[in-house]
Amino acid sequence: MPNETIYLNGEYLPLANAKISVMDRGFLFGDGVYEVIPAYAGKLFRLENHLERLANSLQAIRLQNPHTHEQWRDLLTPLLKPGADQSVYLQITRGAAPKRDHAFPQTIIPTVFAMVSGITPHTDPDNGVKAISMEDSRWKLCDTKAITLLANVLLRQTAVEKGCAEAILFKDGYLTEGAASNVFAVIDGVLTTPPKTPAILPGITRDIILELARKHTIPCSEEAISKDALKNASEIWITSSTREIIPVVDLDGAQVGNGKPGSFWLTFHKLFQDYKKSLA
Ligand SMILES: Cc1ncc(COP(=O)(O)O)c(C=O)c1O
Repeated sequence: MPNETIYLNGEYLPLANAKISVMDRGFLFGDGVYEVIPAYAGKLFRLENHLERLANSLQAIRLQNPHTHEQWRDLLTPLLKPGADQSVYLQITRGAAPKRDHAFPQTIIPTVFAMVSGITPHTDPDNGVKAISMEDSRWKLCDTKAITLLANVLLRQTAVEKGCAEAILFKDGYLTEGAASNVFAVIDGVLTTPPKTPAILPGITRDIILELARKHTIPCSEEAISKDALKNASEIWITSSTREIIPVVDLDGAQVGNGKPGSFWLTFHKLFQDYKKSLA
């Protein structure tokens, strides 16, 4: 791994020199939250939305936000390469406690860490990815972007071992989201995605897609999607900040639509790229 500069607790330093205590509650309990924020042409994309979601995640785990929005911007910006497309990974844990105890310690200083990595959007108009459907085995607070991701890790690993890019998750027979993405489907000509509930992460990419659909009067809906409805969809996409909009052309070994990225994907891929350029 290249020895790039990272941010840790007030310092910028080479990745290899970044160290935290083994008593950190992030390490011991997965007691922390995170954000992934894309930057296009060196500029943080929809930062306010990401910081709002971060504030909600911190509130959900009862951890005080260590910085204002302005401080976060100032802290993250030096990590970005001017002009480059990248993503920032930002993590806050409850910090290192004197002893291992599930209950919060009385006084503790949170650990704040940020690093930058690449972005790999899907641009190929002729090919998509494979996905598998799986039972959603995660906890009930999926709207909190918690670092406690073991269920997501296991689900995604199973997908990868089956040659798939993503595990698409179902709870009680209804679609929730992907192991690391939101899911959209084109059903009877309507771009459809499950509504925001604690069962899914309120994705920023998801919001942008719905905004673009409404702006361009493309039929869209936030409603529950059964497994049967998804299997009969003419298009399925997975969406996230680092992967943008990826067309799924094979679900559980069955072709989706005509087995190629569909006309909705082509339209939204362009709308999304144009929107990025308009902000950069
Ligand atoms: C479980 C889950 N759902 C949805 C998303 C998409 O969210 P966003 O578009 O804000 O990246 C992610 C992102 O990694 C995720 O991990």
